[in-house]
Amino acid sequence: MNAETQSLWMNVPLPPLDAIVPADRDAQVCVVGAGIAGASVALALTEAGRRVVVVERDAIGAGETSRTSAHLASALDDRFHQLERWHGKDGARIAAESHAAAVDRIEQWCARYGIACEFQRIPGYLVATEADQHRELDREFEAAARAGLAPSRTDAGFGALTGPALRFDAQARFHPLRYLAGIVGAARALGARFVRADVRDIDGGKSPGVALADGSRIGAAAVVVASNVPFHRRFTLHTKQAAYRSYVIAARVPSGSVPDALVWDLCEPYHYARVQPAGDGADWLIVGGTDHKTGQETEREPFARLQAWARRLCPAIGETAFAWSGQIIEPVDGLAFIGRDPGEDHIYVVSGDSGNGLTHATLAAPLLTALVRGETHPWQSVYDPARKRLNGAWLEENANVAAQYRDWLAAGDIDAVAGLAPGAGAVVRHGLHRFAFHRDDAGTLHAFSARCPHLGCAVRWNAVERSWDCPCHGSRFAAADGRVLNGPADRGLEAIAAEQEPSTQPV
Ligand code: FES
Repeated sequence: MNAETQSLWMNVPLPPLDAIVPADRDAQVCVVGAGIAGASVALALTEAGRRVVVVERDAIGAGETSRTSAHLASALDDRFHQLERWHGKDGARIAAESHAAAVDRIEQWCARYGIACEFQRIPGYLVATEADQHRELDREFEAAARAGLAPSRTDAGFGALTGPALRFDAQARFHPLRYLAGIVGAARALGARFVRADVRDIDGGKSPGVALADGSRIGAAAVVVASNVPFHRRFTLHTKQAAYRSYVIAARVPSGSVPDALVWDLCEPYHYARVQPAGDGADWLIVGGTDHKTGQETEREPFARLQAWARRLCPAIGETAFAWSGQIIEPVDGLAFIGRDPGEDHIYVVSGDSGNGLTHATLAAPLLTALVRGETHPWQSVYDPARKRLNGAWLEENANVAAQYRDWLAAGDIDAVAGLAPGAGAVVRHGLHRFAFHRDDAGTLHAFSARCPHLGCAVRWNAVERSWDCPCHGSRFAAADGRVLNGPADRGLEAIAAEQEPSTQPV
């Protein structure tokens, strides 16, 4: 994330990670990742009496939890008429039930542990703003009702968004990082440890555990990989889910000028919005959308486009004060992969947020706690990571991935590095090689091999966020030092020493 983009939530200090000590190297459960998924699973496991060590490479909440727009919804993004098609009526009902239970659990944990995170129950509205969306709204009304959500119809739209709409009660909002700090504190008070360490590999065999970059190891009876996308398997889940960027802005609006609710439209790409009280007589209007596949930008000015849409919703909106983006991992059948890692007895995964990451992360807590304890859970088959879904979305996503490898035959973005402006990045082709160049604002050139260390796709420049993004499975790398920003890559781009920089002549 560059200097121009910053999340609304990031002014909240989070608790620091502890240094790892010898006692941490033997746990009953080792959780990898200290975002809302890892912290929720850790809290549920410690409540169940397990000795838990949470291992985090960067900082608590440094990943996608700080980039959410914080909708807590059981009215899911992937629409119940689609979920019925992929999972059947019972599967869609379990999806509704489990996400509603996740919102309940957040509310209960807030009460039990005294977490002040502005949790508030509010309704959600799905609005058909265009005439050709009315039929989809009708289908969703019927499918959501069959799933047990009891939506109601309204022709009043939502604020300035006109058109027929569905209203879903008992949705919610909160401040995600205040909540995260609260559940981390609760888990620590029950004995969980949150430590800083860089995990290099994960074993699930006879001696389960995680191998750390310093050569040491944490042994555990079970390992939970809650790092947004698993980095320890190259193929298992990556062919069943795809990475998208989603953009968010926050701007001040007069208090009460936008109803306190979640709102989603049916456009393609779609928009989502809600307000967050600012506490000084104004509200923050938080608007997101303009999603696209990571590394495959179709919108060069996503924040300006969101501001224009937000102005439709509230003409009195101020200038954009915060703008950020996040990675959404879309499973090909709309629901996350939560459960035992296929082929491994002692490794469990949480991945595939599908735009409902906060509730998927939270429902993982009781589900994985049951599985780690050797019990069954009524939701486990719907979220089973081993499920196979060779549907149209799977074919489309995997054909898209295969097409990205054609970059290796394409020309570079530019012929000569000398003309690269400060703040810009570009790929230069040299023979069969591609090189990724970024010139920072001070004029220093940073050079890397453009080969993604995951499975060898060629990275592309992301001008909005100043990063190198892989169009195949969504790994992202920092422009200045090539370090991993988003997996599944488990290592950064290979740096090129200045004297090895290739010719700037076209080849
Ligand atoms: Fe898979 Fe780059 S993320 S090849």
